[in-house]
Amino acid sequence: MKIAILVGTRPEIIKMAPVIRECRKRKIDYFIIHSKQHYSEKLDAIFFSELDLPAPKYNLNVGSGGHANQTGRILIELEPILVSEQPSILLVQGDTNTVVAGALAAHKLHIKVGHIEAGLRSFDQTMPEESNRIIADHISDYLFAVTDLQVDQLKREGLPDSKIFKVGNTIVDALLSHRSQAEKTSQILCALNLQKKGYYLLTSHRAANVDDPNALIEIIRLIARIPGKVYWPIHYRTQKVLKEAKIDLPSNLIWTEPVGYSDFVKLLSNCIAVVTDSGGVQEEACILGVPCVTIRDRTERPETVDVGANVLVHRDAGAMLEALNRPIAPWENPFGDGHTAERILDIVTEHEVRPVLQTLD
Ligand code: UD1
Ligand code: UDP
Repeated sequence: MKIAILVGTRPEIIKMAPVIRECRKRKIDYFIIHSKQHYSEKLDAIFFSELDLPAPKYNLNVGSGGHANQTGRILIELEPILVSEQPSILLVQGDTNTVVAGALAAHKLHIKVGHIEAGLRSFDQTMPEESNRIIADHISDYLFAVTDLQVDQLKREGLPDSKIFKVGNTIVDALLSHRSQAEKTSQILCALNLQKKGYYLLTSHRAANVDDPNALIEIIRLIARIPGKVYWPIHYRTQKVLKEAKIDLPSNLIWTEPVGYSDFVKLLSNCIAVVTDSGGVQEEACILGVPCVTIRDRTERPETVDVGANVLVHRDAGAMLEALNRPIAPWENPFGDGHTAERILDIVTEHEVRPVLQTLD
């Protein structure tokens, strides 16, 4: 069996890392293809070195561009690689343009596709990620769902039971292998002069929140209302608009370039609360027991809201402050036990699969 693993962006590298490490541990014949949708050091190479991942065998070098440009170029560049390598399966993770293009290229060549994090739905068709998720799911052969919610959604959309596997989320595997190391080795709090539980953490890069300068100004106004220091490692998409629109930043904000995984996990574990529009950060906050406020109307991660870990607020300062001050009761992590990568490889290599536990071990 030969497994092709496609990555393209920061969250795909982080969430695919446990699968790559498990392939290496089992001495499976595998190789990595990187679309290079993300290519800046702080969104790409930093994670390969920090997570100890082998260099990709192929770099498609598609870079930034419109949806058609990115998706089309990945299709064109990937096809000859898949034709010559003839993998038994292509694994893709998440909802990016890399994922939809990768799944489509393999599907057209009758190469099996495994979609990790299948069945997530925000029910917001204006999000580019929503069409990517739906298309990828409907052309995949293995649908690796996280919780029962996605299993049910995939069934509702008519996808056959035989393709659907509840496995948990590889982000739990990633966090479990990095949390204690990050706590010990990351010097980020010292470097930024932040005290444990003495700051709020912010991330924002969602197109609907940052591409329009007026929406981004609303977010900046929200930050100014937060009663304390706010640290923001700013995604390049957002930096670009901040610079072009010459938007001033409030005095309680400390910002830097995006940071590596250990630093981010340390920052997230020790903040008072996180304000975000990231998908992965909503999950990580929920797993780490950190209160989260999500600047969106909808989430494809409703488990985080259901357990009380997350509140959706749109760009509304009053609602955000109320959410930040809400009473917090402990919750259970709904995303699995940290054995998701093992389960995925058991399934694709046809081994016996253990059930998903909703507690960490
Ligand atoms: C992409 C995904 C999004 C995911 C995010 C993870 C799609 C449609 N979007 O959004 O789902 O949440 O990655 O972070 O696939 N840029 C750089 N350096 C880079 C990459 C991007 O400077 O290495 C800048 C460029 O100005 C680029 C902009 O960021 O135009 C947006 O990059 P792009 O990959 O199109 O989308 P993301 O916002 O990163
Ligand atoms: N992350 C990071 N450094 C940062 C910001 C985020 O390592 O400066 C990690 C975070 O821990 C999470 C992932 O990036 O695992 C989330 O990626 P992003 O928010 O870009 O994408 P999304 O999850 O929304 O697709």
